[in-house]
Amino acid sequence: MLVPMKPLLDAALKGGYAVGSFNVASYEMMESIIRTAADCESPVIVSTSSAEARYLDPEVVVAAARALSHKYGTPIALHLDHGDSFEMATQCIRSGYTSVMYDGSHLSLHENIALTQQVVAAAHAVGVTVEGEIGRIQGVEDDLIVDEREASMTDVNEATRFAHETGIDALAVAIGNAHGFYKSEPTLDMARLSAIRSATDISIVLHGGTGIPAEQIKQAVTLGIAKINVASKIRRTFMNALHGALAEDPNTTEVRDVMTVGREAMMAAIKESMEMLGSIGKSSKV
Ligand code: G3H
Ligand code: ZN
Repeated sequence: MLVPMKPLLDAALKGGYAVGSFNVASYEMMESIIRTAADCESPVIVSTSSAEARYLDPEVVVAAARALSHKYGTPIALHLDHGDSFEMATQCIRSGYTSVMYDGSHLSLHENIALTQQVVAAAHAVGVTVEGEIGRIQGVEDDLIVDEREASMTDVNEATRFAHETGIDALAVAIGNAHGFYKSEPTLDMARLSAIRSATDISIVLHGGTGIPAEQIKQAVTLGIAKINVASKIRRTFMNALHGALAEDPNTTEVRDVMTVGREAMMAAIKESMEMLGSIGKSSKV
């Protein structure tokens, strides 16, 4: 069964853990996530970015997610990650996604609020959860100096206004996190996170989950992070496993054997993230 993301995040906030959101670009990735969630009795969010949704087709994603959720007997939230337009968000909503992110973080505050409001109106009308973003989460290629890093972080007053005026259910923040592989160990701005959480009182989302040290993740969860996005880690794990299997038997034509190696490696990586987030054994609480 596909469930909205909001109740998963509310339960996580109450229970002092966070729910992992894992991106998928293939059927094998989706199955690995849902199967691990079932094995670990963990709540989970299956996500596609806009590009991944276009590649797989939103209707196919929904059909596969429903079928796998039913097969493994575990509820999941199906989420559009970094939705890049109102059209993409509504296409996913119509297809049956239970949660959408509209990422207007590159826009002015005024435009971001206006567009996010439109997505909230369309989504909430049919019970779909909405995540918005304020502050710019930097990519791994960005070699930021301190001033730039500071300028990109979520401003507490803007976050409060954004959350209040848009009516979003979850807020993605920039607090020193970045997408991709960190060049050096990140240091999350915990004071900023605390201030945002007390000012807004909604679920906070931490993007760029790959490579954040476990102690910082655990501390961030105690300060109100209810969802953590992890993508590069499982992509890299999957690809490394495929490379390894093919290196061992370069002439194999057994797609199933190679994919099985990839799936097992991915499942171990997902379980490791779920342990870090404290979500194992929590799915019955939803
Ligand atoms: O939205 C996706 C995540 O923020 C992924 O970040 O690739 O650094 O794990 P990551
Ligand atoms: Zn992200």
